[in-house]
Amino acid sequence: MSGGHKLSCSGIRFLGVLGSVCREAPAHRLRLTGAVNQPDWTLQIKPWIFNKYRTIWSRSYGVTFSCLNRIKRPPWMRLYSTSQTTIDSSEVKTFQALAHKWWDEQGVYAPLHSMNDLRVPFIRDNLLKAVDDHQPGKPLSGMKILDVGCGGGLLAEPLGRLGASVIGIDPVDENIKTAHHHKSFDPVLDKRLEYRACSLEEIAEETIETFDAVIASEVVEHVIDLETFIQCCCQVLKPGGSLFITTINKTQLSYALGIVFSEQIAGIVPKGTHTWEKFVSPEKLESILESNGLSLQTVAGMLYNPFSGYWHWSENTSLNYAAHAVKSMVQEHPGPAEFVIKEDTEELQANTSPSLGMPEELKK
Ligand SMILES: C[S@@+](CC[C@H](N)C(=O)[O-])C[C@H]1O[C@@H](n2cnc3c(N)ncnc32)[C@H](O)[C@@H]1O
Repeated sequence: MSGGHKLSCSGIRFLGVLGSVCREAPAHRLRLTGAVNQPDWTLQIKPWIFNKYRTIWSRSYGVTFSCLNRIKRPPWMRLYSTSQTTIDSSEVKTFQALAHKWWDEQGVYAPLHSMNDLRVPFIRDNLLKAVDDHQPGKPLSGMKILDVGCGGGLLAEPLGRLGASVIGIDPVDENIKTAHHHKSFDPVLDKRLEYRACSLEEIAEETIETFDAVIASEVVEHVIDLETFIQCCCQVLKPGGSLFITTINKTQLSYALGIVFSEQIAGIVPKGTHTWEKFVSPEKLESILESNGLSLQTVAGMLYNPFSGYWHWSENTSLNYAAHAVKSMVQEHPGPAEFVIKEDTEELQANTSPSLGMPEELKK
């Protein structure tokens, strides 16, 4: 849903008009049950990591999520640099203004409420593919999920009720306050759901390979620097973990309906609300995912019927779509010994050249 309220409220309704003419699959219904489950927030920082973009050496230690705020590494030990922000300040202002509207099921976020009929089963069923056995009523029990751009917690809450331990993050403080307040209405969520007002980059700066699943639902069309965003998602995912994205395709149709019609002709949303350039095609997304060691498993079109207020799965991905990608189990990195040996060898060569064996310091 582009623009939160932007496309979510009115724009998406018009995108959905087209959807109503496309082949429809019955929307799934969600059963939400479960009991209190104590999550285990112990984060294991691996002794070393290496990926295509950087080589980092860090000591092995464990922290709890609640300690993340207190951990400050020296700059040379940072896992990720927060100087590379994905946050667009104009988007933040938009979402700040609507922060009290999240739980109004008939309001601007109504399509996000009904999107749960599709996205919750999509996430649940794909996660359970990798699980042999699960607890009835709490099928996601034992799984750690990061909900990036959680807004008011519309998706985080049902995932918590399915037994997952969920951390919802959002750069808009007001959204997190709303989410936190709403969570208090359901005691089941107390220990399963945690919210934090921060950026994905901050989480990625502090932890690696922690989550079984990372979710960015209706978020990537609001970020700047999608490559960095996906890179961060990948970093915090465990090997074999799942990344779920729902977003809007970058097509002529999404321009015509989402920008020209909704903004300029019908005035459904204010002019300039949408940035078509931020939309991303499944092909482009796949290429970014692959370059970060994630393989795309599924892309499914989603269409909204503005008259019924419901979403439907569709083979048509030209407007909204859901994607599921899995992080490679095999990390492309040398072992620690190899890494150290290479570094040591280079240092030794620098010190000894060109005087055949004797380091400069020893010659004095
Ligand atoms: C359309 S809302 C979706 C909210 C929620 N995921 C849902 O579907 O109910 C987009 C959310 O992304 C957040 N957001 C915007 N830019 C972001 C960024 N760079 N990183 C993380 N979240 C961001 C916004 O504050 C907003 O809450």
